[in-house]
Amino acid sequence: MSDHQRYLERQAQILRGGGEKAIQKQHDKGKHTARERLALLFDAGTFQELDAYVRHRCPDFGMPQKVYDGDGVVGGYGKVHGRTVFAYAQDFTVMGGSMGEEQANKICRLMELAMDAGAPVVGMNDSGGARIQEGVNSLAGYGKIFRMNTRASGVIPQITAILGPCAGGAVYSPALTDFIFTVDDVSRMFITGPEVIKAVTREEVSAERLGGAATHSTISGNAHFRDATEENCIARIRQLLSFLPSHAAQAAPLMGMGETDGGLRPALEQLLPPDINKIYDMRQVIRELADDGEILESMAEYARNILTAFARVGGMPVGIIANQPQVQAGCLDVNASDKAARFVRFCDAFGIPLVTLVDVPGFLPGLQQEDAGIIRHGAKLLYAYSEAAVPKLTVILRKAYGGAYLAMCSKHLGADFVYAWDSAQIAVMGEDGAANILIREENDPQKRKDWKKEYRSSVLNPYRAAERGYVDDVILPQETRQKLLSALDVLRRKREDRPQKRHGNIPL
Ligand code: HXC
Repeated sequence: MSDHQRYLERQAQILRGGGEKAIQKQHDKGKHTARERLALLFDAGTFQELDAYVRHRCPDFGMPQKVYDGDGVVGGYGKVHGRTVFAYAQDFTVMGGSMGEEQANKICRLMELAMDAGAPVVGMNDSGGARIQEGVNSLAGYGKIFRMNTRASGVIPQITAILGPCAGGAVYSPALTDFIFTVDDVSRMFITGPEVIKAVTREEVSAERLGGAATHSTISGNAHFRDATEENCIARIRQLLSFLPSHAAQAAPLMGMGETDGGLRPALEQLLPPDINKIYDMRQVIRELADDGEILESMAEYARNILTAFARVGGMPVGIIANQPQVQAGCLDVNASDKAARFVRFCDAFGIPLVTLVDVPGFLPGLQQEDAGIIRHGAKLLYAYSEAAVPKLTVILRKAYGGAYLAMCSKHLGADFVYAWDSAQIAVMGEDGAANILIREENDPQKRKDWKKEYRSSVLNPYRAAERGYVDDVILPQETRQKLLSALDVLRRKREDRPQKRHGNIPL
């Protein structure tokens, strides 16, 4: 056999993965192969594969007869919207994509390269987990990946798509990354599967309910995105990457300055219902403020009382955190605090300015919330905002009461600019709550009415806070985008010193 023939044969072998039958089985399950997934991720023709020849070295259980080039993972780098991205996809057609020592080494090398090159890593998981035949060497591989994920955290964006099984300790690599994507009927992510659960707790649960996309997007909060198809999922990964810098030291990518109308948004004038206790959809506000109305919501189906979304304002990517009055009146609870705090941390780590839209009646009261640790979880949000050194812009639309006013990036937590709509009410609490505490004369409804009227006119407004400098400007709703455009421009070079320390101790 000539050198060239041998080369061609090895190439063909690499592309075959686990073979025709295994590929067919993968397709029959409605899943793409590793290579097809990478082709969907990268700009056409840009993928450069690395370590395609790597093979396992396991001498046990007949493994020397089961050797595949690539060892069950396809990895390399390429371009996404013209920018370098590293990616790997586990190849389920090769021994169920199971993780052996060499597969782990490949993934770690790829991550090291990505850190050196200053480029994001996208991992696509589809694996039966630790390769049983390789025993502790496989576990060691996972351990090394966890450490690499942690080292890379805050250095380069890390994104994971769960495109098949991801069970046992294997779930912790995705969980250590910044964003997890899932697909209906494809993702299966759990610590122990249905059979083990049945044996241990006697609970009967389907794999979809236990670890499917809907479960992780709506109940557990482990996933940030859910799509109906792999194509949509990978397209959304590409969209997310368009908002992110390649690494923490780089500015987020500016895209199309697109401001032709002076930035006034008259539609915002009509948005608030006349009754303070009526709801509206905060998403509409975000869309009005965003360039071309384009937003990418993270964790859209979890803790829906708060919204976290990427958008561009004047071409600049921003992270928007907004109370959603439509759900639980926009109160902050345990899950909303966790969701928002992690989003703030991500944006701060990667230099993405924060825009906070406030309409919050308070922290959600109740024994359930107190028992669940609202004190500890709420503290995460306070901590994340206080420590964030990126530009921080806050707009108070309506209610901003009590501790939740403070927690939603108030001036006191370091907001650079706080704007309040003329409809804002910044106070310890609303009129009914205040009257319940201060006016005991239940038999004197007139006194209570007069007191509430006085409270409304003298306290429930934005001017008291503005008089103290806690609000920089009282604005009309339609001016909001203009103000943000100007503030983002002014703060472009913001630098904020932090005290020297090893690291802080966020209330985890
Ligand atoms: C070695 C594995 C494997 C594994 C699957 N395969 N999982 N080989 N180690 N962990 C192989 C199968 O033997 C089979 O090989 C091929 O992959 C395809 O698997 P099938 O079972 O035919 O596929 P399917 O019916 O789709 O079922 C997929 C599956 C099932 C649900 C993932 O394979 C399964 O239950 N695997 C074991 C899952 C598991 O318990 N893993 C350990 C989790 S704990 P052939 O040669 O027949 O094609 C863990 C710890 C991590 O991972 C710890 C980190 C700290």
